[in-house]
Amino acid sequence: TTGLDLFQPERVNSQGFDLRHRPTLASIDTARDAFATHQWHAAPLTIGDLPHGASDAVRNPADFADTVGQVTWATPETVTRAAQGAERWGATPAERARILNRAADLYEAHYGEFFALLHREAGKLLLDCVAELREAVDFLRYYAAHAEGAEARGTFACISPWNFPLAIFTGQIAAALAAGNAVLAKPAEQTTLIAHRAVQLLHEAGVPRAALQLLPGAGDVGGALTSCPAVDGVAFTGSTETAQIIHRAMAANLAPGAPLIAETGGLNAMIVDSTALPEQAVQAIVESAFQSAGQRCSALRCLYVQEDIADSLTEMLTGAMDALVMGDPWQITSDLGPVIDAEARAGIVAHIQQAQAEGRVLRTYPTPDTGFYVAPTLIRVQGIGDMQREIFGPVLHLATFKSHELDKVIDAINATGYGLTFGLMTRIDDRVQHVTERVHAGNIYVNRNQIGAIVGSQPFGGEGLSGTGPKAGGPLYLDRFRQHPAAQTGS
Ligand code: SER
Repeated sequence: TTGLDLFQPERVNSQGFDLRHRPTLASIDTARDAFATHQWHAAPLTIGDLPHGASDAVRNPADFADTVGQVTWATPETVTRAAQGAERWGATPAERARILNRAADLYEAHYGEFFALLHREAGKLLLDCVAELREAVDFLRYYAAHAEGAEARGTFACISPWNFPLAIFTGQIAAALAAGNAVLAKPAEQTTLIAHRAVQLLHEAGVPRAALQLLPGAGDVGGALTSCPAVDGVAFTGSTETAQIIHRAMAANLAPGAPLIAETGGLNAMIVDSTALPEQAVQAIVESAFQSAGQRCSALRCLYVQEDIADSLTEMLTGAMDALVMGDPWQITSDLGPVIDAEARAGIVAHIQQAQAEGRVLRTYPTPDTGFYVAPTLIRVQGIGDMQREIFGPVLHLATFKSHELDKVIDAINATGYGLTFGLMTRIDDRVQHVTERVHAGNIYVNRNQIGAIVGSQPFGGEGLSGTGPKAGGPLYLDRFRQHPAAQTGS
């Protein structure tokens, strides 16, 4: 089969934790407190003893005084040697599924450690930790349920981002492994400790070392992976620019036909018309733009509000922003944690300062100076065309439109070339159809927030500059990790 069975009665998504339940919160506190000062050490996890590079300390983006551990990096030579030793996973599909499900159980059992790591290495809030672990576990179980299928391609390089250091890292690996490939995994250099712990648990569950190796590193390690002739395909999530660099490296060095499965950036918009319920719209806007400090590729970047309601909606929105609490991700009272590092903060702050110089900032706030905090900020723009690039942080841009300009707005959104998420708030049924048929976006949400796609029910991925497809957490994803001899001889 090609895994087109959308409905899987045998699989349910992870239940996560109910944070409104006090005893649950108390158990979470106990479990993660054990790791409040723990020092982790990550190093390449490879077959045999391969040469390593230098080591660096890992610091907490929310607290400059907190050192989280140490990373020993791989080098391009480690990559070459690891690729030579990689062996596709020979176990039967049923055995692969059993082991991936076992890894999911181990992830859940180690939730306290993962939450502590997600707080301290990635600056994530508890709400985001819960969602992230759930998504990682769901990817493992979802792809395990699709392990049956055509032959593996060989060796996959999996290159993942820091914004979902457990979920996206695990999702790429689980898909490649479920299809029977060998994996060479390079996590984002900012979140190597989390990735290292995840790979340890995957090995403990029974994934052989030759089938899954971890290669911590930055661009030099990524470059070595994507230009290594022993690599048969690349799964990448990150910026559009990096995806283009990878594509060129693959074209020059890998076998023709080696697939690139890329999920990249977005310039995501939401349209709110004058029939929308204002309270519902404001809640959806705040969640979409500011949850995870705006560090989601799905996050709302440009909000279009119909002119008739723009003043009242903006007043409600800035009121809701005033109530957001920036601070320590370990505290349940915080709504916004830090951004990932100094470079990220500098880029976002420069964008805000330019808008300030132009008199376009409608709301911003002072920030704590204990970590890489960036204030939730609202900036006025004429339209999405004013935005030259994705600002990966808690910055929302606001434009207005007149009722006869709706199609012009849709054209402007499509003209960006990106197509990841899109939100629409309206109570006119015909308009839902009109707009959703015309906007080019992989994931479209109506009368709700536009983040937090659920594995299995909301496959996630974009079109155009936002990605190659197929969507992660959907029935077609695994197919790209497999060999299809019939399809190849025809070309
Ligand atoms: N899968 C994530 C989301 O839907 C991507 O950022 O929010």
